[in-house]
Amino acid sequence: MKPTSSSSSFQASTLCTPYLLLVPLGLLAAVLVLPSLGSSHVRSDGLGVVLCPVLPATEAAASGAEKKADDASPTTAPEFRLLVGVLTTPARHERRDIVRLAYALQPPAPAYAHVDVRFVFCDVADPTERVLVSLEAARHGDVLILNCTENMNDGKTHEYFSSVPRLFAAAPYDYVMKTDDDTYLRVAAMAEELRPKPRRDVYLGHGFAVGDDPMPFMHGMGYVVSWDVAAWVSDNEDILRHNDTHGPEDLLFGKWLGIGGRGKNRYSLKPRMYDLNWYMDNFRPDTVAVHMLKDNRRWAAAFRYFNVTQEVNSSSTLYHLP
Ligand SMILES: *[C@@H]1O[C@H](CO)[C@@H](O)[C@H](O)[C@H]1NC(C)=O
Ligand SMILES: *[C@@H]1O[C@H](CO)[C@@H](O)[C@H](O)[C@H]1NC(C)=O
Ligand SMILES: *[C@@H]1O[C@H](CO)[C@@H](O)[C@H](O)[C@H]1NC(C)=O
Ligand SMILES: *[C@@H]1O[C@H](CO)[C@@H](O)[C@H](O)[C@H]1NC(C)=O
Repeated sequence: MKPTSSSSSFQASTLCTPYLLLVPLGLLAAVLVLPSLGSSHVRSDGLGVVLCPVLPATEAAASGAEKKADDASPTTAPEFRLLVGVLTTPARHERRDIVRLAYALQPPAPAYAHVDVRFVFCDVADPTERVLVSLEAARHGDVLILNCTENMNDGKTHEYFSSVPRLFAAAPYDYVMKTDDDTYLRVAAMAEELRPKPRRDVYLGHGFAVGDDPMPFMHGMGYVVSWDVAAWVSDNEDILRHNDTHGPEDLLFGKWLGIGGRGKNRYSLKPRMYDLNWYMDNFRPDTVAVHMLKDNRRWAAAFRYFNVTQEVNSSSTLYHLP
């Protein structure tokens, strides 16, 4: 039985499926890199690398509760598989710690959905970050490194969506999501939204209206496409030929799909995907994703609102020994 919860994506067992390479810690420098998408002749060796933990799966697993959820229905195949890529940068270790906790401490995704969460980097060039990111990869096994130079509006999203179909060709997902490290995604709520949706030609997120078009593109806080759409982006040489990967990634993504006539099954999850306002008073109980969690205070507000944990409030809770 594949783990079914979002949080179990942090288990080594989820990640180290046979089509991925097991990469010892010291070899990070030697790995990664997908062939350039611009040159189709290298397309065939399109093998990227997902870094796997060196710890045994049991140690890498975050908690016993997740395992219980997995064991409960050992033979049920999930109805769909979702890959969530959290685009982040190497130096943001503290933020990643918080985001990891955010995913790990959520209620598990329902059994009908298999959800994997990965932190997505471009090439880790800095020697210090290379070592530190290797540690993270070894401990958590949730790191995906692409062949690109770190950037936000200079093609990273394109690299992500075009690499994933080749990286995971042996075991395709049904949906691929892109999100950021200032977004709190409630995985179970997203899974519930996706369950009745078509599995093909889907483009779902927080739609932006422009003129008469209710949603020519989805807000960059997080959007989902079906696997066929990601595969289309991956195969589409025109996007690169027209140098159409520089600029606001969310708007460009919608533009590619618009030109290509893809993602015709469009869904806007407004208002359940939204920006947290300045006063932090517009949280909603039915949230799918809340964005603009740009500092620890705002993350704390989200955890508090969603009752993620009880606050420690006295030395007796902090220092209580059994
Ligand atoms: C990575 O991308 C660069 C630039 O597109 C390309 O020249 C290089 O061959 C790629 N590396 C690999 C291993 O595919
Ligand atoms: C592509 O666009 C970027 C940003 O607009 C620009 O810097 C770059 O020179 C362009 N490259 C080509 C090959 O046109
Ligand atoms: C959090 O807990 C409080 C108190 O039990 C409850 O009223 C509230 O609805 C919960 N919030 C959410 C988002 O579930
Ligand atoms: C600590 O929080 C708990 C509820 O989480 C509450 O019952 C208790 O009174 C609090 N203690 C103090 C000292 O504030």
